[in-house]
Amino acid sequence: MTRYIAPSILAADFTHLQQDIEIINSSEADWIHCDIMDGVFVPNLSFGLPVVQAVRKYARKPLDVHLMMVEPERYLEKFRDAGAYQLTVHQEACIHLHSTLHEIKRLGMKAGVALNPHTPVTTLEDIIADLDLVLIMTVNPGFGGQQFISQSYAKIRKLRKLIDSSDSQALIEVDGGITLQNAGMLFEAGVNVLVTGTTVFSAEDPVETIRKLKNAGQ
Ligand code: DX5
Ligand code: ZN
Repeated sequence: MTRYIAPSILAADFTHLQQDIEIINSSEADWIHCDIMDGVFVPNLSFGLPVVQAVRKYARKPLDVHLMMVEPERYLEKFRDAGAYQLTVHQEACIHLHSTLHEIKRLGMKAGVALNPHTPVTTLEDIIADLDLVLIMTVNPGFGGQQFISQSYAKIRKLRKLIDSSDSQALIEVDGGITLQNAGMLFEAGVNVLVTGTTVFSAEDPVETIRKLKNAGQ
């Protein structure tokens, strides 16, 4: 099964962002995860389009852009132009989720949906075949460095069943509180992509930590 690692630059050193991107470039990481927070959908602000553009300039891995914002449909083209490979919108933020996902694909990007901890997997039953990715939030979105919510395992297993019993090719991504301790169990439960901020960027050796995450439990 696919195993991807997507370091989140939210935990990078913004005064040396190029340096941190080069570290990811030189590692076994697969994507670079960019967390966009609007201060409305989540109680925090992060960064926006100019930073994504700057990251794109040095990144040699595709940009996996996670939009924690209201009305994301207003910005799809702008994020495509800034260099997003994949755009993930929140189910809770989209009134017309089906049309937003199709617009992301029409613009040439991969389309993902994120679920907050309280949002059930069943809400995706009727669109699962259209998705490239489902992001399960394993913390409440808005901040890095939080503790993993353990009920997430049951949710991951339900999602794995839903994907495997349909025509869907969707990857399962988890985001928040991912560590070297839980990475192996998450892959075991059916996860394909680990997003990791703190674990990678607070490590003494981020490249080695990425390698360990990728091979966790094997
Ligand atoms: C949280 C973000 C995460 C965050 C993960 O709202 O979506 O991507 O950066 O950070 P860690 O790995 O520190 O929990
Ligand atoms: Zn994220």
